[in-house]
Amino acid sequence: MKKWSVIRLTSLIGGLAAITSIVTIIFLIKKIEGDYTRDAVKPHQTDSHELRLLLDEANRDNNRRISTVEETCKRRHLGRYQDRNFESFYKHPPAPQYTVFFIDMVHNLSYCPVYKAGSTTWFYNLCLLNGIPEEALANSSGQISIIARSVLPEMELSEAVEVLEKSRKLLVVRHPFERLLSAYRDKLENSVAGREHGTLHFYKKYGSKIVAKFRDERIAPPRSDQVIRPKDIPPPAGIEPTWREFVQYLIHTDLASYGDDHWMPYYLFCTPCLIRFNIIAKRT
Ligand SMILES: *[C@@H]1O[C@H](CO)[C@@H](O)[C@H](O)[C@H]1NC(C)=O
Ligand SMILES: *[C@@H]1O[C@H](CO)[C@@H](O)[C@H](O)[C@H]1NC(C)=O
Repeated sequence: MKKWSVIRLTSLIGGLAAITSIVTIIFLIKKIEGDYTRDAVKPHQTDSHELRLLLDEANRDNNRRISTVEETCKRRHLGRYQDRNFESFYKHPPAPQYTVFFIDMVHNLSYCPVYKAGSTTWFYNLCLLNGIPEEALANSSGQISIIARSVLPEMELSEAVEVLEKSRKLLVVRHPFERLLSAYRDKLENSVAGREHGTLHFYKKYGSKIVAKFRDERIAPPRSDQVIRPKDIPPPAGIEPTWREFVQYLIHTDLASYGDDHWMPYYLFCTPCLIRFNIIAKRT
């Protein structure tokens, strides 16, 4: 029950608004290029009016998301709204996790990656912005987050605090339940497929423990016609947790012990109640 209210909060912060990511991305790219100025829109461009409307809409959506976060943090006494006289039900980190940010000083952009919410795309964008050629990224067998980290290394704490404060801060979210399902499918559902994405590691670290704790022999495993399985992918070994068991694990685990970036709630990982994000985009 309690856990679900926490997830509801996450849902609130995550499900901030409905807007196509395309519009948001155009808006972001324009902002990053610095040409989102009214003068830059040339009258002879037939689509300039439409583009302006799209940008205005994206801007409104963004402002609405920022206010929703602000109001939610305030209402729940989280982060900078912490109130010593008010015992908050929610655990909240005392300080931002500066080391999780990718801080691009050249482009004045600080990105907090929410895994399973467009992080691969944004690591890719950051690599391109920092001069890694597309072909090199396409050919590389390395993890894109590691490549991005190599061009944007972690900063010393004092420097990170200062730079982050001044820079444009980006958070990309996704509906929290969709994100959980995506994490399950990608990391836990099949320990045989996707080994390059660490599925075996995830099985050993979480899957096997989830099964040991939450397998209930009275509950029939899903039938093969109840499972979505892409063609050309080997079937799972049969030892993996089911979706139900994964959800059981989430409900019965203390949020502060979620431990994994792929399903840790946004408010614990990117601490939007401590950091004022300038852009909150939504992956749809
Ligand atoms: C990428 O790999 C392809 C096929 O293996 C090769 O033809 C191409 O030259 C490589 N490009 C770079 C930049 O290494
Ligand atoms: C970086 O972005 C922030 C937030 O949008 C802005 O206030 C600041 O002026 C920018 N700094 C530079 C050097 O452009």
